[in-house]
Amino acid sequence: MSYLGIDLGTSGLRALLVATDGAPIGSVERSYSVDNPHPGWSEQDPADWIAALEGAIADMRGRFPEFSALKGIGVAGHMHGATLLDAGGAVLRPCILWNDTRSHVEAARLDATDRVQELSGNIVFPGFTAPKLEWVRTHEPAVFDKVAKVLLPAAYLNYYLTGDFVADMSDSAGTSWLDVGARDWSETLLAAGHMTLDQMPRLVEGSQAAGALRSDLAGKWGLSGDVVVAGGAGDNAAAACGIGALEEGQGFVSLGTSGVLLVARDGYRPAPETAVHTFCHAVPAKWYQMGVMLSATDSLNWLSRIAGKKPRDLTAGLGEDLRAPGETRFLPYLSGERTPHNDAAIRGGFTGLATSTSLDDMTRAVLEGVTFGLRDSHEALMATGARPEALIAIGGGTGSRYWLRLIATALGLPLRLPAGGEFGAALGAARLGMAAATGAAPETLMTPPAMRETIEPDETQRAAYDDAYQAFRAAYPGLKAIQ
Ligand code: XUL
Repeated sequence: MSYLGIDLGTSGLRALLVATDGAPIGSVERSYSVDNPHPGWSEQDPADWIAALEGAIADMRGRFPEFSALKGIGVAGHMHGATLLDAGGAVLRPCILWNDTRSHVEAARLDATDRVQELSGNIVFPGFTAPKLEWVRTHEPAVFDKVAKVLLPAAYLNYYLTGDFVADMSDSAGTSWLDVGARDWSETLLAAGHMTLDQMPRLVEGSQAAGALRSDLAGKWGLSGDVVVAGGAGDNAAAACGIGALEEGQGFVSLGTSGVLLVARDGYRPAPETAVHTFCHAVPAKWYQMGVMLSATDSLNWLSRIAGKKPRDLTAGLGEDLRAPGETRFLPYLSGERTPHNDAAIRGGFTGLATSTSLDDMTRAVLEGVTFGLRDSHEALMATGARPEALIAIGGGTGSRYWLRLIATALGLPLRLPAGGEFGAALGAARLGMAAATGAAPETLMTPPAMRETIEPDETQRAAYDDAYQAFRAAYPGLKAIQ
């Protein structure tokens, strides 16, 4: 028997086939593009997702004969996207994605509406789904009038796979229409965003069955027997399932384009005032919280473009031994910031430049600035009562040992490095498919990967980095004042 995890990402779709014991069999990928028709807009044609899925399945059938024994599918998707369907199930306009900021005015209005933060557990960020529908209501009323269902990207794939409108709790938590504590649609939140319950998909837990694979698709894909499609997950919850972060305090720091510090929670402890995201987990009766910074490796990539040197050449110049904090400071707000500032308009900056400042100093400042941004997320998570004792470090930025030592020291937390192999959202999605198809308890499937190493904080430098962090914190209001 085999199980399929589909990671519907922003730049492409990855499908991973795993065996009954959860071991990866193989994966395939298909890419697609993001359209930016106007500044701040970010859209995708859902037909591209379907074409990518069908292409990936065709590749998979050709390469992995185990596909013919498929029993379960889980889909993880980029969160918050609004896919609008008419009464016949046809897509009304391109999907408005998570990184589209056109609806910042509508987001601020919803965020200030009575009970919205209290029920949704979160700030209404411009990237969330409800403000997108408010934007469509104002700017495309003819489209708005025809909206019969709103599906998140993963739920749209579930619809293609099963023919039913079903969404999981973890992804639905990012809409601003879900009562995240009660794990149910909130009529109050829906009314605030001019939506109705019948426009929402049916809710299931991510590890529960959403439905069965459509028989015509099963026939086309050469499958016999029932194939269960799980509720699935938003990509961050799925990544937590892939890395085995289900229990209170387990979590990861992801050093990708954006930086995510995620911790699983046994209970619901929202703290919207910290700009932490509080979402349902993809398994029943659990939640997770995360701080999101928008420019993590993106900040280093920016410097690399300016300097004409590859990011790894920039960081190699620092060696591996952690130095004391530098005199030059960098504020990493190149695309605005979510946690802790919720400020789409803020931009970055260097301070403390001198005639003697070298490219190494600037690289160090960028790494420190991103690290202090992650510490902001850690502080925000601590304010909710989260107490991670260690974090698993993932993402492209983990290639720099200097950076890992810096983060471990500035956060005062050991960082554990996976030995390699699979541990991402596609594996989490496959595990959800397996849980839904077999009924296995999620915690028996969603275990951490083997680790190759733990990076400990450098205790001799902790105090110096605490002081440098306080100086970093103090710089933000000044930067905002000159906006
Ligand atoms: C989370 C978020 C992103 C998207 C895209 O709130 O906006 O992580 O899920 O990956």
